[in-house]
Amino acid sequence: MIRRKMVAGNWKMNKNLYETRDLLREMVPELKDITYVDIVVCPPFVGLGVAVRETADTPIQLGAQNLHWEASGAYTGETSPAMLVDLCRYVIIGHSERRAMFGETDVSVNKKVKAALQAGLLPIMCVGETLEENKAGLTAEVVSRMVREGLKDLTALQATDVIIAYEPVWAIGTGLAATPDGANAVHRDVIRPILREMFGQLVGNGMRILYGGSVTPANAAELFAQSDIDGGLVGGASLKTESFVAIVKAAL
Ligand code: PGA
Repeated sequence: MIRRKMVAGNWKMNKNLYETRDLLREMVPELKDITYVDIVVCPPFVGLGVAVRETADTPIQLGAQNLHWEASGAYTGETSPAMLVDLCRYVIIGHSERRAMFGETDVSVNKKVKAALQAGLLPIMCVGETLEENKAGLTAEVVSRMVREGLKDLTALQATDVIIAYEPVWAIGTGLAATPDGANAVHRDVIRPILREMFGQLVGNGMRILYGGSVTPANAAELFAQSDIDGGLVGGASLKTESFVAIVKAAL
């Protein structure tokens, strides 16, 4: 099974309008001829408009970092799937920072995944265990629950449009990435079997599972070379042209 690799940059709450424009103007020339990997940049909502302009006619695709599950209405401060489809193709859902700081649960993640798919957006659904859960030997249990609950009631056809990002919380922003072997074990032995069980062999084998958590130019190639690591969701290193481009190129 050949899965096309993907490298997605999660800018988190960084870069204003002008910084977004400038960073993309730096990145685009370096990335414009790369066609062998899906390149996705996820700026904050306010940067999406200018990002659309700067990435027009390039292979760089855009993603949002969150969305609301309703289509419109009295939800002050929220952004709907229908608003995002005009701006981007992907949306990160259930990032651990949103789960930890903004009250997101498996239930809200599931609603958001379904709403994104219904609107024609491709969800990048994040799962991952905390340090305490990891130390307690609960990684498989926690990750399994997040995958099952997050993808609950999806059809196999819908599932083909979902990308999973395994992001152990202890590896995010810490400089302590999971080992390639350790991450691949979760992808191959925990997540992939659940995808096969839920959606069938063909779909389960075809879905992409990204790794996230302190991906750098130094560790990207070895991570991406693993059997079930289909690319990366990159935070800190996606904010600098040099490191992001190097990571994209490591996804050969
Ligand atoms: P990091 O973040 O690469 O800075 O560890 C990854 C993420 O949170 O998606």
